Amino acid sequence: MATPVGKSPAIPHPPGSLLVGLFDSGLGGLTVLRRVHEAYPHTRCLYLGDTARVPYGQRSVEDIRAIAAEVVHWLRGQGVGVLVMACNTSNALALDVAVAEAGVPVVGLIDSVAAQIQSDRVGVLATPATVASGAYRRSIQACRPQAQVLEVGCPAFVPWIEAGDLDAPGLRDAAQEYVAPLIAAGVDTVVLGCTHYPMLRPLLRSLLPAGVTLLDPAEAAVQRLGPLLASLGDAPEADLALDAVIPAQQRSRLCVTGCPEAFAAGASAWLGHRPTVNQVDLRSAGRAF
Ligand code: DGL
Repeated sequence: MATPVGKSPAIPHPPGSLLVGLFDSGLGGLTVLRRVHEAYPHTRCLYLGDTARVPYGQRSVEDIRAIAAEVVHWLRGQGVGVLVMACNTSNALALDVAVAEAGVPVVGLIDSVAAQIQSDRVGVLATPATVASGAYRRSIQACRPQAQVLEVGCPAFVPWIEAGDLDAPGLRDAAQEYVAPLIAAGVDTVVLGCTHYPMLRPLLRSLLPAGVTLLDPAEAAVQRLGPLLASLGDAPEADLALDAVIPAQQRSRLCVTGCPEAFAAGASAWLGHRPTVNQVDLRSAGRAF
């Protein structure tokens, strides 16, 4: 069947139902979106994958901040009522930009997971930009000053994941290289500090000692989202009647700045259904839907 692209079918928006905005450079933020769906199946989401500019993780700080400003400005224009950072790189380098642009509450990945870490020997796998920012080390040590934090940049991961090439021998070799210093340092907790990396969980699990705990920051962020949704007056019961028409998970809107067909194909494996994906121009004013 052809991938549905272009204009989404009209999806009813009941009064009282809040729109949660998420963005990432590409497919990675879907690991966050999936957790939001699992935890709050009746909450509607608008996801922006900035695939025209993926990967973010090798860009300059100035680029990452300018991109975050543009994307969050666009999401605000679409009427999101809360923003979940679904990109660690933007979270690490442009959280202040996102907060200033969003005009609505912003839930971060890095501070959310840092507050839950129970170990003093922590490894972080992340993009080169996130590692260079030191954001994970600072956030973890703000909660546990005695913690040793070893951050490793993994530049090869995102291009392979975006290409859907999870069985490439080169990917396994790169993963082996990235986890080696963590194993040598004897960490007992490894943070998946890029939202693309939960897609590599089975590979990373197979390379790390059995006693090492793998943490996906999205889990902690999604826990923070619940009370926030309640305090913002999200009314999931308003959506319940729609279930018969459109399943809850398919009511989220997925948008990209690059090729919608490629994104739909890459997203299906992770979401369990082939989504409708719209291409959008972030500079055009007004609602895309
Ligand atoms: N998935 C994003 C992150 O969490 C960005 C990865 C990239 O584009 O380099 O860092």
